Amino acid sequence: MSPTPDASSTEPTALLEIALEAARRAGELLRDGRPADLGVAATKSSPIDVVTEMDIAAEKLITSYISGLRPDDGVLGEEGASSEGTSGVRWVIDPLDGTVNYLYGLPSWAVSIAAEVDGEAVAGVVAAPMRGETYQAVRGGGAFVNGERARCRPAPAFSHALVGTGFGYLSERRAAQATVVGALLPRVRDIRRGGSAAIDLADVGCGRLDAYFERGLNPWDFAAGALFAREAGALTGGRPGEAASGELTVAAPGGLFEPLQELLDGLGAWHD
Ligand code: IPD
Ligand code: CA
Repeated sequence: MSPTPDASSTEPTALLEIALEAARRAGELLRDGRPADLGVAATKSSPIDVVTEMDIAAEKLITSYISGLRPDDGVLGEEGASSEGTSGVRWVIDPLDGTVNYLYGLPSWAVSIAAEVDGEAVAGVVAAPMRGETYQAVRGGGAFVNGERARCRPAPAFSHALVGTGFGYLSERRAAQATVVGALLPRVRDIRRGGSAAIDLADVGCGRLDAYFERGLNPWDFAAGALFAREAGALTGGRPGEAASGELTVAAPGGLFEPLQELLDGLGAWHD
């Protein structure tokens, strides 16, 4: 039995408990309830930007659970949940990050839930049921995977970096992203495209990737994973001097972060 979360507190650890339980329930629904004949329920930014009935069901489960406990909080969810709230707390939710992997039966997908207080992520959970792993962090409290402390790798030489990235769903954006990857690939150990930004960021925090970058993310893709990566010792940001955003998100340990950010900026990784 999971402990009953303290529903009134805005303490990051109390918010984390709620995120953990919501992500656990949604992860179980997605893992155990995936229909064998799962199809596409709708498309969004392009015909290959898909939504399944399970994305929608998982978001409903998460938002009902959270609003049942904390009716005054705001929410922002990938599948349309959006309310301002009055408490200063906002939940940023990707009910199923890695939808294309999930559709095809590939295991790299996750439930991502972050709690922001006054606009800043203070608690984050990325649950990856097919990995049997949950990544969690509160601001200032370190990062943990299944209860064990997570730490990013020390920065390798640039030429030895294993770098994760992802691509948007629009053809023109992909053409620009291919140019950036084409310039980066000869300069690093290798590139990975896992298919879930939340897991990519968790992998930086666990030392399974040296770095990660992507253009075009939404807040729900990176809010929880970026907090986890930071609490595991990585730096996160966007263009030099800026915070991670839809323009550009970069995560890596200090020493690798800065040259990668500079190179990406020079390559125009922040625009189409
Ligand atoms: C996508 C995944 C993917 C990233 C895309 C995201 P979705 O989220 O995180 O790895 O490259 O930019 O949109 O659509 O699976 O929730
Ligand atoms: Ca997503």
